[in-house]
Amino acid sequence: MHTGENHSGARRILGRVITLSGSRAGVALTDISRSADEQSHPTVGKFLGILNGQMLTIGMISDVAESEFGQAHGATAQLDLIGEIRQGRFQRGVGQYPGIGDPVGMLSDRELRLAYGAGEQGTAEIGTLQQDPTVPASVRIDDLISKHFALLGTTGVGKSNGVTIILRQILATRPDLRVFLIDPHNEYAPSFGDRAQVLNPRNLRLPFWLFNFDETLDVIFGGRAMIDEEVEVLAEVIPLAKGAYLQYRNADRSMMKRRDPRSAGFTVDTPVPYRIEDLMTLIDERMGRLENRSSRTVFSKLLGRLQTVRNDPRYGFMFDNANLGGDTMAEVLSQLFRLPANGKPMTIMQMAGFPTEVVNAVVSVLARMAFDFGLWSEGISPQLFVCEEAHRYAPADKTGGFEPSARALARIAKEGRKYGVYLGLITQRPAEIDPTIISQCNTLFVMRMSNERDQALIRSAVADAGNLLKFVPSLGPREVFAFGAGVAVPTRLTFSYLPPELRPSSDAGGATHGGMTPSRELIGSVIDRWRSATSSNQRPVATMAEDIFDLDVPSYEPPRTAGPGPAQAPGGEAYRRDHAAPPLAPAAPPPAPPLRSSILKKPLDAGGTWPAPTPPRRW
Ligand SMILES: Nc1ncnc2c1ncn2[C@@H]1O[C@H](COP(=O)(O)OP(=O)(O)OP(=O)(O)O)[C@@H](O)[C@H]1O
Ligand SMILES: [Mg+2]
Repeated sequence: MHTGENHSGARRILGRVITLSGSRAGVALTDISRSADEQSHPTVGKFLGILNGQMLTIGMISDVAESEFGQAHGATAQLDLIGEIRQGRFQRGVGQYPGIGDPVGMLSDRELRLAYGAGEQGTAEIGTLQQDPTVPASVRIDDLISKHFALLGTTGVGKSNGVTIILRQILATRPDLRVFLIDPHNEYAPSFGDRAQVLNPRNLRLPFWLFNFDETLDVIFGGRAMIDEEVEVLAEVIPLAKGAYLQYRNADRSMMKRRDPRSAGFTVDTPVPYRIEDLMTLIDERMGRLENRSSRTVFSKLLGRLQTVRNDPRYGFMFDNANLGGDTMAEVLSQLFRLPANGKPMTIMQMAGFPTEVVNAVVSVLARMAFDFGLWSEGISPQLFVCEEAHRYAPADKTGGFEPSARALARIAKEGRKYGVYLGLITQRPAEIDPTIISQCNTLFVMRMSNERDQALIRSAVADAGNLLKFVPSLGPREVFAFGAGVAVPTRLTFSYLPPELRPSSDAGGATHGGMTPSRELIGSVIDRWRSATSSNQRPVATMAEDIFDLDVPSYEPPRTAGPGPAQAPGGEAYRRDHAAPPLAPAAPPPAPPLRSSILKKPLDAGGTWPAPTPPRRW
């Protein structure tokens, strides 16, 4: 084992300080022999100690260059000074500067442990030091969580495995905390076993009435350009549908004396139940009063869109049974955020099966509800909201993405701490994330990254340790540089080795890594995911796989009313977001004639009974 000290117990002196400027020291390394011990060879990323009277100033090597010192051959090293060891204790920052000529040596094992805070209370091990693999590398769990963190690195360097290690340690150390993980590739379920509930579009119930106005619009318009007139109509009728629901929930419907639903005072964003049928009744009734044909078209198109999403099996998670049980907000919240935990303090939200055009709206709803629950409960249940592929949901480029999800994540980043809602971000494209969000992350785990824009962003985020980032492009797999609140000092470490059964692997993609023979179920699941991302509607993808493979999937009853095809954006205004369905999606059927289905017969102010609740579609 490396000790950094020679046989007589004295420190091996490698050189002397020759320059000092700010928090940097230049060292002439006169002993650069490699013979003794490979570990003690001074190279970038390693710590050296400057003997400065009774104390030891600690610096990390950021540059080494070959030099000649008189006749002797040697090297110069630049150190970033980060702290000092005084009377057996490590302290960050430099209180007393070393002087020119002070001797410089390797750190002993004990000193390294002191500097890195290994074994300190409240720390948890996530790997080993790159400088000395016998020394554990730890993070300060509370600081890590409560000041938000981000894990950044190019594809395939080990981010998903790294975050698994971090989250497993968090779960082990903080039983009071709930962890909510957005899992875009459905890869994390094996990593957390029975500690996590796994939600996906088949078992998630996220009633549409929990979506705020922006999110609702995103769903209804499928991420395409919105039509202002239709938006106006919705803005008017949604609060009315909410008010109406409240009225007939509180009264015997046949006896009901109608009051103005406006009096309920709901806004478009109030998260209270309403029925989609009521919404359509209200729209239909307004359409009926219009003389002008072109105005009627606006209403009928809107009805068509509502009908389309309502009947699209891919949207079953938000429309099926959405009104069953009345106001189920408490149940939804307690399921999503594990209240109580019942042994599973974590939720893994698998995103891969959601229709691509609503993925961002769903993330927006979830992040917003996590924040709002923290806000209104005054942080009763601390929660860590972890978002993989964060650049998709909080893009820097506001024109290309769906703003509400970025806004919801930014809100957690900026104000979440006050309400016990914390953020963990993972991305391979740090330069593409909204910079205001990443700047709130006080611990950064930086893995290999070669893109100059990404590196520039990290440099600006860790201004005081900028020099240490020079070797980020050359970090190996599993290697990571940790900066900020969660670590005692900037730490170059190697994540622990995760056994294969705990590694994240997607349900469909895992087979290729493990060399397994793909089973029929697995191929069925591949087809399901493929089709749900690209099909328009009408038939649940599960049944297609069922046809082919006789899979055991729940039965499906076709929609009762055929809606018009997917909403079409008018030619000039149409745009597709990068995550929208690929261009090869089946062509939409021609728009149906203005829709006046049976549920739309009763106008709101006719004083008659409300339409009977529509029986839920079965799966
Ligand atoms: N800590 C680890 N323990 C064991 N194997 C690891 C570890 N980290 C990475 N690996 C190996 O490296 C591969 C890639 O790791 P991982 O999937 O975590 O990378 P990633 O950065 O998340 O990639 P992507 O950007 O594609 O999501 C894994 O399949 C695994 O074999
Ligand atoms: Mg990954």
